[in-house]
Amino acid sequence: MEHKLLTVLMSVVMIGAATVGAEYVRPKPRKALHFPWSRKPSSEPQQVHISLAGDQHMRVTWISNDKSSPSMVEYGTSTGKYTSIAQGESSSYSYLFYKSGKIHHTVIGPLEHGTVYFYRCGGQGPEFQLKTPPSQFPVTFAVAGDLGQTGWTKSTLDHIDLCEYDVHLLPGDLSYADYMQSQWDTFGELVQPLASAKPWMVTEGNHEKENILMLEDEFVAYNARWKMPFEESGSSSNLYYSFEVAGVHLIMLGSYTDYDEYSDQYSWLKADLLKVDRKRTPWLLVLFHAPWYNSNKAHQGEGDSMMAAMEPLLYAAGVDIALAGHVHAYERSKRVYSGRSDPCGAVHITVGDGGNREGLATKYIIPQPEWSVYREASFGHGELRIVNATHAFWSWHRNDDDEPVRSDQIWITSLVSSGCVADKRSHDSHLRKMLLSP
Ligand SMILES: [Fe+2]
Repeated sequence: MEHKLLTVLMSVVMIGAATVGAEYVRPKPRKALHFPWSRKPSSEPQQVHISLAGDQHMRVTWISNDKSSPSMVEYGTSTGKYTSIAQGESSSYSYLFYKSGKIHHTVIGPLEHGTVYFYRCGGQGPEFQLKTPPSQFPVTFAVAGDLGQTGWTKSTLDHIDLCEYDVHLLPGDLSYADYMQSQWDTFGELVQPLASAKPWMVTEGNHEKENILMLEDEFVAYNARWKMPFEESGSSSNLYYSFEVAGVHLIMLGSYTDYDEYSDQYSWLKADLLKVDRKRTPWLLVLFHAPWYNSNKAHQGEGDSMMAAMEPLLYAAGVDIALAGHVHAYERSKRVYSGRSDPCGAVHITVGDGGNREGLATKYIIPQPEWSVYREASFGHGELRIVNATHAFWSWHRNDDDEPVRSDQIWITSLVSSGCVADKRSHDSHLRKMLLSP
């Protein structure tokens, strides 16, 4: 009797264990990180981050509390031996009762590809180290949007730090400061270990707006602190720009500035697409914040009007992959265009799950749309390794109890290699007609 009871009890325990093991238990949001008051000397560089700034150049950005600290970067390929010096520019901004420190932007270069440089900001303070991206394939991008500054953000950043990557891509929603300007400073400190070592290329999300009726303009802190290479790419706004790495042309679009066919962004996009040479850059990627293909119940339809305006252009140009954030979950589509799967459309991937305080978006539309391949509400990051002109490997890594678990992965074949990309030299090509139309 006793033995029978034990057997039944064991069976219940075994079934329970199997259920727990098979089903991923979704973690709760983690608390905002606590940042102790910094005692750094006022002239010491803070919040150091780097970004690509045109061919073989890098922009170094940092903040000093000392207003007389120079915008100078010393750098070289050996530690402590700075063979070059660059001078930059500085600015500051006020927001209600907050006054920022001195924000320095200094472009260094020309730099060798795939090379480690040692650098120092403002003539003093600690030495930093960066690595420039390679000149040709393979090249690897780390991707994480909607970061914020919680325990999960830290977990995501720790996992990215373990990855061998060349450039970090951030499709919007950085600090979640949400009007509390000092939280831009703590975010800058939080990301410094990674962002001072590899270029961070970002575009704006809704949390970057921070406008208060007539009191404050939009994107004041974002534009001052996260200057991107818009001038270098012929754009008149920090809210949209493009850049190239190895054989990849990347376009960073703005979901929160005008994008209709009469807008500056639309005109700039047409001009930028015309400049793309698929022989030099066979891969064409686009990033923006609010996803166009989203089967999560959160933020439904928010990308629709931008998609209606711009998707035909991107389709005609043969965009390979579109990366978005905003929805705090992960989703990957088939190649799609105009709401349906299409072998010449882009793969759309939402990676808005970096770890912010708002938590995960767990409710999905049922049934799963035909174009949606994989969807999961968990915190994590993506890695895109572009191996050569024809093949790329995408993987998404879930923060599974702080262990990075590769949850979704797929080989992606380039549109150039599948014959979808029109030859822009051909006068009757669809792309050329679209791009040159008034
Ligand atoms: Fe957002």
